Amino acid sequence: MALTGLENNDLKLIIFGGKGGVGKTSCAIATALSLADRYNTLLISTDPAHSISDCLGQEIGFKVTKADGTHKLWAIEVVADKALSGFKEEHKAELKKLLETSTSLDNDDIDELLTLSIPGIDEVMSFKTIIDFIEEGKYEKYVVDTAPTGHALRLISSPKLLDEWIKVAARMRWKYRYMVTSFSGSYKQDEVDTFLMSLKKTVKRIENILKDTARCEFIPVCIPESMAIMETGRLLSDLLKSEIYARQIIVNNVMTSGGCDYCQRRKAGQLRYLQEIGESFGNLNKVEVPMFAEEIKGLESLGKIKKVLFTEIYES
Ligand SMILES: Nc1ncnc2c1ncn2[C@@H]1O[C@H](COP(=O)(O)OP(=O)(O)OP(=O)(O)O)[C@@H](O)[C@H]1O
Ligand SMILES: [Mg+2]
Repeated sequence: MALTGLENNDLKLIIFGGKGGVGKTSCAIATALSLADRYNTLLISTDPAHSISDCLGQEIGFKVTKADGTHKLWAIEVVADKALSGFKEEHKAELKKLLETSTSLDNDDIDELLTLSIPGIDEVMSFKTIIDFIEEGKYEKYVVDTAPTGHALRLISSPKLLDEWIKVAARMRWKYRYMVTSFSGSYKQDEVDTFLMSLKKTVKRIENILKDTARCEFIPVCIPESMAIMETGRLLSDLLKSEIYARQIIVNNVMTSGGCDYCQRRKAGQLRYLQEIGESFGNLNKVEVPMFAEEIKGLESLGKIKKVLFTEIYES
């Protein structure tokens, strides 16, 4: 089987996720390379380890960079900390005013605000960077490589966390608003209210695209090993809870050659796990990628994965 449907015009955002070391980066880049044969494609890494530079053999960094030797592929490695500090810098005045005008805060409010402001906000800013790119519309496809499962799930649940934060901030504003209204008889919406509303819109924009089965698809990558299968199961059920669409799965590192004794034993060892994958994730289109003898680095070896992922019947 091959990956299907990625060329649908409506489909913009394709997110790869899975356990550590299963081949997410290799498969995300190979997919981006294939799409870039026809579409202007932006490959985005949200993994703090940023291995797309290593895999492509080219320094990418936190700026859109044309991938050497490709026709229509660009790449960027989003640095969450920088995305967050950029956001804080941009909205310093509003954030300061938010706290200054919240003089009626009680300690519980402050504690709640602080706890809620920490998790998720940097991931939201990574996602905001992605959404801004999509809305700018310069590219036709956006392929996202994530760090291992926990990170991908944090990324996906980040809008919810930011939403909680906004709710607390809005509650603080209500108290302030109440005070101002009591003293002066009226309240005029200010820049902090506008800022909170625009944050709320960002959350909605992220949620809308993530839950839109026509515009967004999540592709889990798994390998035929027990722990990877269990982790994929958990990932899929979390995706389902978040209403994020997964239609197909890549099973990487499948032993195809039974030549030497070692290969034969590894191949035999994988059989029951391949069967388990078939049974557990039977509702998904399954694409098997063989274990290659050499590591996946540079356009030539990535081209081999690309060929497997997009060729109906692959013969190694
Ligand atoms: N089908 C394959 N055959 C041979 N080697 C592979 C294959 N797929 C991936 N590799 C190698 O396995 C290693 C891990 O691959 P990759 O970096 O794509 O995984 P990952 O899931 O992105 O890892 P991480 O969780 O660290 O981000 C790399 O050295 C890569 O070259
Ligand atoms: Mg990776």
